[in-house]
Amino acid sequence: MRIFIEITIMEVINIAIQVRRCSCEELSESERSLVALAKEQTRNSYAPYSHFHVGAAMLLADGTIACGANQENASYPVGTCAERAALFAAGTSNPGVAPVAVAIAARSGDAFTGSPITPCGMCRQALLEAEHRFSRPIRLLLYGHDATYVVSSVRDLLPLTFDGSDLPGN
Ligand code: THU
Repeated sequence: MRIFIEITIMEVINIAIQVRRCSCEELSESERSLVALAKEQTRNSYAPYSHFHVGAAMLLADGTIACGANQENASYPVGTCAERAALFAAGTSNPGVAPVAVAIAARSGDAFTGSPITPCGMCRQALLEAEHRFSRPIRLLLYGHDATYVVSSVRDLLPLTFDGSDLPGN
């Protein structure tokens, strides 16, 4: 069976997002400490397959910090990213406390990436759930050796969202 789709002229919706680019030194002192923890966390990564070591440090509304690093598996899809490791560690150690910021850093070998890495699609969706759950944006501090990106909310990285509010009765 073949289906042909007729292209018609449709309304275009432009979606703008803001990403601030700066050097790590321009961040506030507390943000710099969070980035330093994310960098440190890359040491706790288990990445024998990709050799790509990612660390995440998540600041919670009560001032505590939860950390995570990517954990791989010989059966590749079983592995978990640093961002979800940190998010789920936060949910377990401090249940009911909103995440307010997360710093992410990655390195191959000894060198941190020049450009920041951004969370994968699955991590964006997982982080979005926390934003929706606590009605509070999570600030992203994405570290790179040459530049750091600051994004005010996970929604900026996943603009056409699907969250609990899309489900009936929520
Ligand atoms: N990874 C993360 O931990 N976070 C990201 O944002 C991107 C990718 C991990 C998953 C896998 O262990 C390795 O990096 C290579 O994709």
